[in-house]
Amino acid sequence: MPENKPSTGQKPLLDAARSARENAVAPFSTFRVGAAVRTKSGKIFGGCNVENASYGLTICAERVAIFKALSEGEREFDAVAVVTDADTLTPPCGACRQIIWEFCGDAEIILGNLRGKTETHRMSALFPHPFDASNL
Ligand code: THU
Repeated sequence: MPENKPSTGQKPLLDAARSARENAVAPFSTFRVGAAVRTKSGKIFGGCNVENASYGLTICAERVAIFKALSEGEREFDAVAVVTDADTLTPPCGACRQIIWEFCGDAEIILGNLRGKTETHRMSALFPHPFDASNL
């Protein structure tokens, strides 16, 4: 079951995701998403969705945040936040779940909206029986 109380430690991550959402490039869907990933040492990297007229080239906010952190040399993560304006909180899509599992493992996934609603999940609950390097 998801937990519905945001812990105080989650606020900076949710704030970073909310702020990244302001930069969303979403002219086609108009669905603006912000995400943020936290390193085990406490650094936070934000990202937004970036859409393209060739729709399949669109990249989700979660992957932008994680790729930004990876490209800055970070390798160890413990939490990801996703913020949208939806009443039903927005979970990571299937492609992002694969990427989050690969780089963040059984991280805490914090979902939020602009009205302060939040839920916390674990990746192992959102993405059971994954394919990963242990299968190779
Ligand atoms: N999107 C994200 O950025 N993250 C999610 O978790 C769900 C979907 C984006 C992709 C696309 O730009 C828009 O939301 C609609 O699918």
